[in-house]
Parts: sequence; C-alpha cells; structure tokens
Amino acid sequence: MSAGDTQFFSKIGLIAATVGSAVGLGNIWRFPAEAQAGGGAAFLVLYILCVLILGIPVMLAEFSLGRAGRTDAIGSFSAVSPKHKKWSCVGGLAVVTAFLIAIFYMVVAGWTLEYLFESLSGGLYSGNTANPSSEVFATKMETYISGGWHPLIFTVVMVLINLAILLGGVTKGIERLSNILMPLLFVILLAFCIVSLTLPKAGEGLVYFFRPDFSRVTPSVILSALGQAFFSLSLGMGILLTYSSYYPPETRLVRTAGTVSFLSILVAVMMGIIIFPAVMSFGLADHGVAGTTLVFSTLPEVFVRLPLTWLWSSLFFLLLTIAALTSTVSIAEVVIRCVQDRLKLSRRAACYWVMVPILVLSSVCSLSMGMFNFLDFLTAEILLPIAAIGVCVFVGWIAPKSLLTNQLTNDGSIRSRIIGLCLFIIRYVAPALIFLVLISPLL
Ligand code: PFF
Repeated sequence: MSAGDTQFFSKIGLIAATVGSAVGLGNIWRFPAEAQAGGGAAFLVLYILCVLILGIPVMLAEFSLGRAGRTDAIGSFSAVSPKHKKWSCVGGLAVVTAFLIAIFYMVVAGWTLEYLFESLSGGLYSGNTANPSSEVFATKMETYISGGWHPLIFTVVMVLINLAILLGGVTKGIERLSNILMPLLFVILLAFCIVSLTLPKAGEGLVYFFRPDFSRVTPSVILSALGQAFFSLSLGMGILLTYSSYYPPETRLVRTAGTVSFLSILVAVMMGIIIFPAVMSFGLADHGVAGTTLVFSTLPEVFVRLPLTWLWSSLFFLLLTIAALTSTVSIAEVVIRCVQDRLKLSRRAACYWVMVPILVLSSVCSLSMGMFNFLDFLTAEILLPIAAIGVCVFVGWIAPKSLLTNQLTNDGSIRSRIIGLCLFIIRYVAPALIFLVLISPLL
C-alpha cells in the first residue's frame, strides 16, 4: 500500500471525510421523523445533550483506539493491548456489523439515486402537478422502492459508484470525494433553509421545532434521542476506528470530535428548519411525517407546490444521494481495510473481495423488504449497541490507561482538560446508557 493510502492528506480532508460518514440519512431522513414523534424542540434538546454527554466521549474512545492501532478495526485492539488479543472479537463484531449495514444501506442509497433520476427526468411528477395528492406519491413510492427491477438497478449502480471511489484509495478516492461533496451538501441545505423560511407558515414551523414542550418527553423519547445520537455519529460501526487510523499524529482528536459532532447537529437542525415550516405551511402534519414516507412521499408533495418543482426536487434528492454516498463509502471502507490488512491483499483485490459480495447481497436485499427490515433491526437494535459497549469497556478498563491520555494530548504535546471526565463517561455512563438502549425494546 502506498504511503498516500494510509493517511489523509489534509486537515480539511480528514474532517470532510469524517463528517461525510457521520452526516447521513440518520440526520437528514431519520432525525425530522424522530423529532416529530418526540415533541419537536424537546427531542432536539435531548438529542444535543446525548451527543455531548455520550457521543463525544465514545467518539474519542474510537478515535484513540484507531489512531493508536493504525490498522483495521480488528487489529487495533491487539495492537493497543497485545496481552488481550481476545478483545479483537469486538473489532470483528464491528466489521461484521459494518458489512451487514453496507448491504441494506446500499439499497436505501439506491432509492435516493432513483429519486434523483426520476426528479431530473420528470417521472416523479408526471400527471401530478394539477392535483397533487399523497396517494399518488405513495403509489409511486411503492413502485420505486418495492417494484421489481427499479430498486435492483439503482442499487447495483450505487454499489458500482462506491467501488469506483474506493478503488481510488483513501486520499484520491474517499478524501477527494468528501472534499467536493461535503461543501456542496451544506450549500444545498442552506438553499433549502432559505426557501423554507419564506413559506407562509414558516413561523409556526419554527416555533414547533424550537419551543420545547417537555410534557411530551417520556422515557421512550429519551431512549430514542440516545439511539439517534448514537446512530447519527456512526458510533459502534468501526467507521470512526478505521478513519482515525488514517489521521496523522498531529491531528487534535478532541477538536476533531467537537467539529464532527457540531456539524452533525447542525445538519439535523437545518433539516428541522427545512421540514417543519413546510409541513405546517402545506398542512401535511396529518399525513404522518414518519420514516420512509417523510422523504419519499411527503416531500414530493411540497415540491409540487413550489415553482420549479423539478429543480427543487432534484436538488433535494442530490442532497440525499450525497449524504448516502459518503456514508456507504465509509462503511464499506471498514470491511475493505479489514480484509486488506488481515489477508495482506492489495487495495484493489480487497475492494473486489468486499464489494462483489456486497453487490450480490444488496441486490437480493433490494428485492426483499423482509431481508431489509431484518438487517436494519439486527444491526441498529442489537449489534451496534453491543459493539459500542465493547469499545467503551476495552478503552475504559482493558487498554493501558495511557491510551486515552496519550491520544488526547498527542503524546503530551498539547493539553486536554477533559481526559478525566471522558474516562469517567467511557467507563461508567456510556456503557450503562447504551445498555439501556439495547434492552429498551424489552422494557
Ligand atoms: N451517521 C450515519 C447516518 O446518519 O446515516 C450512520 C451511517 C449509517 C453511516 C450507515 C454509514 C452507513 F453505511
């Protein structure tokens, strides 16, 4: 492997790549639906608290492990603590989880691409402009998402795009892609915020999103805010571990974690600013702003009421495709790096060894909602929390105490005042809270 393939080239590039991984459909698609279900602003406050209290320390645990190990998610554990080789199984679990997530996330990424294509070609709005109705978009969604060859073709295209990027390597593939797409993502988000703020009932939407109604907070809302924080920061997937193994020694981990978390929250907030004014202005609240329907059937109802429908629609689905692509690339990289380092393969060979099975399995998954839902449930509800608890216990209790201190201070060359607090959260608070997320379906 060339030197350029083991380290991000620039500070901006490494931030762009990490933010690209963190900012995904979790922030853009899942957050507004969760916020709606959890009482708007109250959910937002809880989500931000969870990111700060749980997210940043766990992210720092993954960063420390990854940068100290400088190898794949499995190898990092034994590199950091050779006496405790068995703990590599936590890395193994993260890699298996990443592989399973890659399979169904490629399918969702394929849907975003399909919607982008249908917006550009006008297919999404054909015969609809005169009398837009949610039923029409719901029927289209049915056809696009579960209608035979459609999803299959776009899933295959998405996997091939991922393969092309990943073959380019860390700097020329992942970093270059992120440097171009992440600024574009923020520009598109900003344009939508501006449009949304000019809608007739923008004020009502903003009040809903920013004025907390804590009476709607229940234990289950707290747990879903925790789950959302956890998912939106890509914790427990091996991504942060793998990407931080490409960070140079001088990267300030605390600052990087702060920046990534801030930008991830910012995207979620911008999405709220976009969605809630639109939902209020067009009276869509009763249509159930939830899950899949929010993006794929409710939002087209908004776009059809705007001038230049195809343009807004295409821009929005471009935004979604970018968010999905930078995330799928990161999740596939976890597995590729692992195969490359464990089997001592060339980058090229590792890319094919990983992406061909993903291509086959995600093609099957695109045709089977049963498989899709099972993989989603298995990874999000079970495997991710277990892997994250494993990372916390390893960094907090098993690895040498110097790991966190050395990594957060860059071997003593900079100061960090949060080491003690971070260690406390990694040792006690985070495992306990993540365990609650894990057992919450049983409560
Ligand atoms: N933070 C990402 C998101 O919000 O979508 C989490 C993620 C999911 C990353 C799936 C990568 C991925 F393939």
